[in-house]
Amino acid sequence: MNYSSKEFEFHDPNSSDYIKVVIPEVANAAFGLYVWPCAPVLAQHVWEHRKQMEGKTVLEIGAGTALPGIVAAKCGANVILSDNSSFEDCLRLCRKSADLNHVTNVTVEGISWGIVSPTLTALPKLDFILTSDCFYDTKDFEDVIMTLSFLLQRDPEAQVWCSYQERSSDRSIWPLLNKWRLKADEISTPNMDCMRTTHTVHTTHIIQLFRLQLDVSDEDLIDGKKGS
Ligand SMILES: C[S@@+](CC[C@H](N)C(=O)[O-])C[C@H]1O[C@@H](n2cnc3c(N)ncnc32)[C@H](O)[C@@H]1O
Repeated sequence: MNYSSKEFEFHDPNSSDYIKVVIPEVANAAFGLYVWPCAPVLAQHVWEHRKQMEGKTVLEIGAGTALPGIVAAKCGANVILSDNSSFEDCLRLCRKSADLNHVTNVTVEGISWGIVSPTLTALPKLDFILTSDCFYDTKDFEDVIMTLSFLLQRDPEAQVWCSYQERSSDRSIWPLLNKWRLKADEISTPNMDCMRTTHTVHTTHIIQLFRLQLDVSDEDLIDGKKGS
């Protein structure tokens, strides 16, 4: 696989903290083989919350080139990068991303949305789940949400951080979130001025960030406990 590399530098305006990440890309190829505009935004959010990453277990789904997951790994998390189990090129590129950044605390797994596979059920307890631009094709929306719902029912304390580009108001994820009893709280987007990169995108301003959680309402109170 011939790839080119993009560089991303994450800085802290108040200290000398800094990391550099190199991301391999394959131009003119499948969806997962280049960096989408959602990825730098989520990666910068991870960087700004890096103290929460240390020693934590982080899963990135639909990782593609895996910029957010690699940032989490560089900030001390144990990271599982995942993409569709049938997309061998994407899984190879995830591995390449980890190798180029010399992060050894990273494993790569095939996890296809909407499928409760042995790999999904065997995941360790998760602290964070990252999803960058996984809501791009309406046919997959419910599968992504089902996978997140499955993981949150298993690990209700896990935080799901999701960067999202709404491409059309006809393609909303909100009814499906309700159906799967998830709720989304918008998180303010990070200051992208602190990132230096060879990557050019002009659309980061239309990216939204959300934290997804199980929507456990008062109706679910059973003997004073939530959920079942
Ligand atoms: C729009 S790309 C986003 C890639 C990357 N997260 C980013 O933001 O740059 C969508 C990603 O979802 C992956 N994907 C597509 N269908 C999938 C499925 N059914 N299960 C898991 N991953 C899938 C693609 O291979 C691709 O990596």
